[in-house]
Amino acid sequence: MLSDAGVAIEGDRIAWVGSRDDARRRYPAVVPLELAGVLFPGFIDCHTHSIFGAPRIDDHQRRALGESYQAIAAAGGGILQSVRDVRARTPQDLEALTRQRLLTLRAHGTTTVEVKSGYGLDLETELKQLRVARRLAETERLSLVRTFLGAHEVPPEFRPRREAYIRLLVEEMLPAVARDGLAQSCDVFCEPGVFTVAEARDILVAARNHGLTLKLHADELEGSGGAELAAELGAVSADHLAGVSDSGIRALAASQTVAVLLPATMSFLGRQRQAPARRLLEAGAAIALASDFNPGSSPTVGLPFVMSLGVSQLGLRHSEALLAVTVNAAAALGLAQDRGQISPGFLADLVVCEVADWREVAYWVGANLVTDVWTGGFACPRPAAPVSLGLHVEA
Ligand code: NIG
Ligand code: FE
Repeated sequence: MLSDAGVAIEGDRIAWVGSRDDARRRYPAVVPLELAGVLFPGFIDCHTHSIFGAPRIDDHQRRALGESYQAIAAAGGGILQSVRDVRARTPQDLEALTRQRLLTLRAHGTTTVEVKSGYGLDLETELKQLRVARRLAETERLSLVRTFLGAHEVPPEFRPRREAYIRLLVEEMLPAVARDGLAQSCDVFCEPGVFTVAEARDILVAARNHGLTLKLHADELEGSGGAELAAELGAVSADHLAGVSDSGIRALAASQTVAVLLPATMSFLGRQRQAPARRLLEAGAAIALASDFNPGSSPTVGLPFVMSLGVSQLGLRHSEALLAVTVNAAAALGLAQDRGQISPGFLADLVVCEVADWREVAYWVGANLVTDVWTGGFACPRPAAPVSLGLHVEA
């Protein structure tokens, strides 16, 4: 931690970090940009389902009335409702909606976002989602890391023959995604009632053979051995983990797999149980935090809010929460050498918060204290507030 610091940027990289006085001596010809507040590495949201259509406000209300996430899904709400919606939308419409939402994430300090498909569950729609993400990365100043999540649910048309859907994933969808370079990673929702550990293994092994890195929705609501599978396969991350077992904790601690915790999800779902963050840390696992931004279980746009929950709900120290959205979140995307630190050689993704004590970023619950954002050395325009997150956007 430096006070009165100076940072030099050359091209899209950080070239030098030191004291403000040294910066003046070293770069006498440069007119510096003077900033007040605290400069952070750009926050990295390493787990989102950002490409969706309508919000699912009815699901929210049904949970408030006592229905569970699983019961709502079984009654035709949940993920499959978003699937019907995304299948019916044009790519242009989906792109316009997603742009508004991603720029809102960026306005809260997120400079790299992992985005998953998984609201298509057929070849055409999964590709449509991933292409929207590719196009947005080309047109907007923020990094998107694309993950294929065709195994988010078994689509209704395959319910009586789920093994045929797994064949479709492995034999058609994964090869098409890999051929077009549409995703860097593959993820599976491994959970009782969704995909079993054996099914997840088959899908992930096929993905690895296509050169994709692996991620896993593991033990989100109930434990089923997802964390163990992620560690066994060398996944970059095992995500959620509210139901992780002791052996899952040991397996993660002994591996390079990052435990990605999503406290906003459990909190939005009204669950009392959170992932055992302290036990994971004490065992020696690396922890990242992410928003899980999605229309069903976490319409959460800001990582500072997630850090706040990390401290109050997971028992993280402020320093652990900050590492969890920077260095460790980069590792959960296989990008630890490239971003997540204010160090020479790293990508010049930077965020300024108007605070006196850096811990305030996780303290003022729900406030957006971000004043400036740079991605790859470029100053991002501030969004004209308020931005619509719902369906009222100009296509
Ligand atoms: O991470 N667990 C599965 N997927 C999301 C929820 C997606 C949705 O409800 O639309 C999650 O919580
Ligand atoms: Fe998720």
